[in-house]
Formats: sequence, C-alpha cells, structure tokens
Amino acid sequence: MAQSVFASRILEGKAALVTGGGSGINLAIAERLAEHGARVTLVGRSAERLAGAVEGIKAKGGVAFGASADVRDFAALERAFESAAQAHGPLDILVCGAAGNFPAPAVNLSANGFKAVVDIDLLGTFNACRIAFERLRKPGACVLNISAPQAFTPTAFQAHVCAAKAGVDMLTKTLAVEWGGAGVRVNALTPGPVDDTEGMMRLAPTAEARQLAASGVPLGRFADKEEIADVALFLCSAAARYVTGAVVVCDGGQSLLGSGLLGRALGFGG
Ligand code: COA
Ligand code: NAP
Repeated sequence: MAQSVFASRILEGKAALVTGGGSGINLAIAERLAEHGARVTLVGRSAERLAGAVEGIKAKGGVAFGASADVRDFAALERAFESAAQAHGPLDILVCGAAGNFPAPAVNLSANGFKAVVDIDLLGTFNACRIAFERLRKPGACVLNISAPQAFTPTAFQAHVCAAKAGVDMLTKTLAVEWGGAGVRVNALTPGPVDDTEGMMRLAPTAEARQLAASGVPLGRFADKEEIADVALFLCSAAARYVTGAVVVCDGGQSLLGSGLLGRALGFGG
C-alpha cells in the first residue's frame, strides 16, 4: 500500500467504525485511518474476511477489531457498535461503506433484487448513522458515507444502485442539517471507477469493458484505492472541520461526461 500523503498522525486518539470495512475501498480507508492513529472497528457479514483485514492492519502497527453484522439487521448492528465501544471506547468517526451491486436491466430485476441493494446501501447507511448518533454527538465527530456517481448520473443496468445511492446523498445532506447543532459533520465521498475492487470487477469484468470505461474518464485511468482513502482521511480529519453536507466527488472527472461509456461497458446500446 502506498503511504499517505499526510505526514503526521492526524487521527491520534480517535475511534472509528467502518461498515463494509473488510475489503476493497472501505478497507483501504480503514487502513488509512489506522495509519493515522485511529483505532478502527471493521463491520461486515463475513467474520473470516474481517479477521484477515484486522490482521493486515495489526501487521502494519495499527489497532483494529472486527465485529460481524449485516447492516440490514438493526439489532445485530447495534451489538456490533456495542462491542466496538467495549474494544475502543467512545466513537469519533463513522464510515458507511457497506454496499452491494450487480449489473441488471430493470426488466430483469425482481422486487427482491432491487430491495437487496436499496436495503444494504441506503437502509444500511441509515441504520449505522441512527445507531451511531448518540455515540458520536460531540464536536469533532463525523460521518462519512460512501456514495457513487450513479447517485446523480443515470446509468443503464444500475437502476437499483442509482436509486440507493441517490438516497444516500440526500440522507447525508439531511443528517448534516439535523446533526450540525450537535457538532457532528456528515459528508459523502463519491469514488469513480477504482482499480482492483469487487465493484469494478462486477461492472467491467473484461479488458475490453475496462478500457471502454477508462476512456470515459478525463484523467484517463481508474483510481487506485489509496487515492480514495486520502480524500476520506481529509474529510474525517480536523482539516475538514467546516465541511458538512458535502458530496465530495473523486472520480477523475468521469461524471462530468455522463455514464454513456460505463453503460456501454455494461453492454447497453450494443
Ligand atoms: N441479476 C439479477 N438479480 C440478481 C443478481 C443479478 N446478477 N444477483 C442477485 N440478484 C437478486 C437475486 O436473484 C435475489 O432476488 P430473488 O429473491 O427475487 O431471486 C436478490 O437479488 C437478492 O439476492 P441474494 O443473493 O439473496 O442477496 P444477498 O443479500 O445475499 O446479497 C447482493 C446481496 C445480491 C447484492 C450480493 O451480490 C452481495 O452480497 N454483494 C456484496 C458485494 C458487492 O456487491 N460488492 C460491490 C460493491 S459496489
Ligand atoms: P467490496 O469490496 O465488495 O466492499 C463492500 C463491502 O461491504 C464488503 O466488505 C462486504 O463484506 C460488505 N457488505 C456487503 N453487504 C453487506 C451487508 N449486508 N452488511 C454488512 N456488510 C456488507 O466493494 P468495493 O468495490 O470496494 O466498494 C466499496 C464502496 O465503494 C461501496 O459503497 C461502493 O458502492 C463504493 N463505490 C465503489 C466503486 C468502485 O469502483 N469499486 C465506485 C464507486 C463507489 P461482506 O460480504 O463480508 O458483508
């Protein structure tokens, strides 16, 4: 993993919880927070995956703990927050990154397929924020929700994800309004296509699809996970203390050009 561009340990003494933190972009964010001194709890469904991720953070000198829960299950998620509090003390930072995605034309989506993604991405984000608030309510605390360009760029074969992530963006802004008075900042971070992730493996599984998708990015390439993690670190740090209700886009400019090429990479329009 490339080292952070920030020199000092800017999250020393903080406790963070990352949903979906066992893999991919969310794990890179958790690693970055830990590298900067935060004690991190990773939440996901697979205990085995969490254990591997925790070991990886510990091997680099970080403090980490895994608590398995499905973000759709409010009671199980509450228990995960409670065990995080016992392990790491009061919470300062919540990152909501748990998500599901698969490409499917709307006419091939069952009601349950649509619901599965909305429940993981949107309801799961609400559940985590709702549980976290009483633990977070203090100046300096923050929430970072991981969104996607589908929130504001209609994308073929992504109706479920577009609906879910648009909800995440509006939830973010609404909570920023409601919770600002308690000192809790709430922001969203929108990655574009990120290399070596489950998400891009599902959306652009072949070299041809990858190339087509990358050609729709003004910076001409996919991001690496660390580039997303650096922006997350900034948003979770005191350097962003006056930033709330923002949807921060880190997509190499992809969404400026719309979703046409990603749609074509997914097979839309021949
Ligand atoms: N096309 C159409 N429908 C699909 C589908 C696909 N490729 N994959 C799943 N579904 C449907 C299922 O058929 C089911 O609907 P049904 O009951 O009407 O048959 C519904 O989605 C739920 O599937 P299930 O496997 O029971 O859901 P789950 O809760 O176990 O898993 C997913 C959720 C489907 C999102 C799964 O892909 C997942 O766990 N993803 C996490 C990892 C991930 O997506 N990473 C990328 C993040 S960007
Ligand atoms: P990923 O590795 O699959 O990450 C998703 C994580 O969420 C997994 O660790 C998964 O672990 C967990 N998860 C899924 N369903 C869950 C549930 N019901 N309860 C608890 N945890 C659950 O995918 P990724 O591509 O890195 O994506 C990470 C985030 O970035 C997502 O929010 C995604 O929408 C966003 N994003 C990704 C890209 C990209 O290019 N990859 C682009 C834009 C936005 P378990 O299966 O063990 O539960």
